[in-house]
Amino acid sequence: MEQNVLKQRAALAALDELVEGSVVGVGSGSTVDLFIDALATRRDRFVGAVSSSRRSTERLRAQGIHVMDLSELIASGLPAPVYVDGADEIDPWLQMIKGGGGALTREKIVAAAFERFVCIVDASKVKPVLGAFALPVDVIPMAAPLVARELVSLGGFPKLRDGFATDDGNLVLDVGGLQIQPEAARGLEAKIDAIAGVVTCGLFAARPADVVLIARPEGIERVLVGDSTG
Ligand code: 5RP
Repeated sequence: MEQNVLKQRAALAALDELVEGSVVGVGSGSTVDLFIDALATRRDRFVGAVSSSRRSTERLRAQGIHVMDLSELIASGLPAPVYVDGADEIDPWLQMIKGGGGALTREKIVAAAFERFVCIVDASKVKPVLGAFALPVDVIPMAAPLVARELVSLGGFPKLRDGFATDDGNLVLDVGGLQIQPEAARGLEAKIDAIAGVVTCGLFAARPADVVLIARPEGIERVLVGDSTG
C-alpha cells in the first residue's frame, strides 16, 4: 500500500485522540499536513492550535484554524491535552528521531507544553533500533565545526544540511552512523544536548511519545508507552 495512503490513515485516526474544547498542539511534516486537513473538518470543536513550524502555521491558517502563540496558550491557562506529530523513526519504547523537516527544536518546545504526545506514523517508521535515519542536530551557526567534531567523538558522521536554516536561523547537522539501542537513547540525547552550541538534538527520548498510531495495510495499531511496538 502506498506510504501516503498510510500517512493519511494515521492522520485521520489522530482525530479520535483529541479532546473537544481544548487547544491542539500541532507538529510538522507531511503526515501532520494531512492531520491539519483532517482537523479542519472539525475546527469549530477546538479553541485553536499551537504550531511548531512556519509551514504548519501557514497550513493551519489556510484551513481556517485559529493559531495561538505558545505564550498566549501559557498565559490563558486553557487546557492543552494533546500534541500530534509525526516522526522519522520510532522505537519500541516510543522514543523517536525527529527533525527530518528541521523543526525539531520548536517541536520539542511545543510538545513540552502539552500533556500527551500522540505520534502518527506509517509502519515504515517503526524500528527496533534508532539511527538508520541520520539524527538531526540543531546548532548555532558559529558552533557548527566544534559541534561536528564532538559528534565524531561520539561515533557519528555529521553532515551539514545544505542550504538549510531552521525557522530560528540555525543550522542542522545530520548525523549518520549511529545505532541507538532503546536503553541508550536517553543518555545520548543528554550528551548531545550538553555540547556547547547545540540547541537541541532530534532524539525525543527523555520525553517519548505517550501513544503511537501506526498505520499498517491491515489497519491502525495503537500502542501506548510501556507496550511494545513489536
Ligand atoms: C519534522 C519532523 C517530522 O515529524 C518528521 O520528519 C516526519 O515527517 P513526515 O511526516 O513528512 O514523514 O520531525 O521536523
